[in-house]
Amino acid sequence: MLTRRAAIAGLGVGLVAPALLSLPRRPAARPLLTPPVAGAPALHDVTLEAKARSVKLLGKDGPESTLWTYGDELFPVLRLKRGDRLRATLKNSLGEHTSIHWHGVRVPNDMDGVQYVTQKPVEPGESFTYDFSLPDTGTFFFHPHCNETGQVGHGLLGVVIVAGDESEAFDDEAVIIAKDWRLAEDGSFLPFSTDSGAARAGTFGTLRTVNGVKRFARKVPAAADIRLRLLNLDATRMMDVGVEGAEARIIAIDGNPVEAMPLDSWRMGAASRLDLVLRTPKAGGKVRLRDYFPTEIFDLAELEAEGPDRRAEPFDPAPLYASRVPEPDLAGAETQPFVFGAASDAIASFIDTLDPDDPLSKVILDDLCTASRTFWAINKRSWPNDGHRNLPPPLARLKSGKSYRFTLQNATPHPHPIHLHGHTFKVLGSSKRKLPVHYADTVLVLPKERIEIAFVAAAGKWMFHCHILEHLETGMMGYFANA
Ligand code: C2O
Ligand code: CU
Repeated sequence: MLTRRAAIAGLGVGLVAPALLSLPRRPAARPLLTPPVAGAPALHDVTLEAKARSVKLLGKDGPESTLWTYGDELFPVLRLKRGDRLRATLKNSLGEHTSIHWHGVRVPNDMDGVQYVTQKPVEPGESFTYDFSLPDTGTFFFHPHCNETGQVGHGLLGVVIVAGDESEAFDDEAVIIAKDWRLAEDGSFLPFSTDSGAARAGTFGTLRTVNGVKRFARKVPAAADIRLRLLNLDATRMMDVGVEGAEARIIAIDGNPVEAMPLDSWRMGAASRLDLVLRTPKAGGKVRLRDYFPTEIFDLAELEAEGPDRRAEPFDPAPLYASRVPEPDLAGAETQPFVFGAASDAIASFIDTLDPDDPLSKVILDDLCTASRTFWAINKRSWPNDGHRNLPPPLARLKSGKSYRFTLQNATPHPHPIHLHGHTFKVLGSSKRKLPVHYADTVLVLPKERIEIAFVAAAGKWMFHCHILEHLETGMMGYFANA
């Protein structure tokens, strides 16, 4: 079996396969286009009932597993267009409280779905309606924000696709959701968190799936330009993604359009998304979307071309419309350093600095929101575990509308995918890797790596944490209180 892992390990960029050397030079990337004015907004009313449901994840003849899903589907996909309004009612039919966080979507702060920070927990039997407009196109997802290892571990995840970035429509599209499961052979769940995993790179699943199946295969039109929306929704896993059997370009990162770049391999941490376009082969030909990170290469998808050729012209996908994320002013930005490290014994005392009139300030943080152990910290401060009765003070207070430049320094031997709520930041560069300048909401920071990001602050309380779910539950989480 072909292995490219050794050649690409540690880098966001990969090798050029010898066969490619004889191909004509790749055309220069065409710049992104200015987005048109959004059309009349549509209102999408949905109900998302969080509930338990039996699913045979281990195969048709295998045992049933009791998953928790939003409605009757595993990973429901909400499709809207930029500017549309989403009114989503979460109905909690679980036995514990929950909420919905809209990962990557620039929502108003009170729609951000973080129990105790932006809203009260939605208790069993209760409902809560999220109501907001979608300001950006892209591939996003949603999940709860307390007991994330358990609730996301049981399957509570959904996808939000905001259309309106294609200047010319592609011929087909596939949504590819990678998520592992912690299952025993009898179909029951194994513990979602372990001390040895939480204190290291995370506790890995026992079953790898894509779209809920062990081997994801699909038919696609022949000689066609198809879009893949790949989401790494695992709690822990990091992937090195590449395509074999077709030429592929990266067209968006975390949903944010980039000038089409050739895909050799791209490293994705937990919670990140990658949009690709590829030219499928003639009927009968196969394309593989692969993860080169594990010792044994894992096929994320096998796409088989069928039917008449759709296109004859050389592969040169039309540029997407540029993102409408506010552009940070780098010259005027204030710089702040953040160091992701191990928890120290000298954890700061958590005085309540919230406005005493804030209804959330006296809420007791319950043990659904954190683990009982603390292993990690941001700037030497760990998110408090259940022994703390109030929210800790924010990591910083930022001014809304002002530009900030953060340096994210990983002082641990493990990678951390760092996520900032409510903002889309510009990734300016890495001390270790050649990364293209791009927008993202989650950025992987490798051991000993320093990543620089910049963004325009928005008003509200916004969480900032590692997206390895066991890491955020054991201390690597904080928030900004922005006025
Ligand atoms: Cu997907 Cu607090 O994040
Ligand atoms: Cu982490």
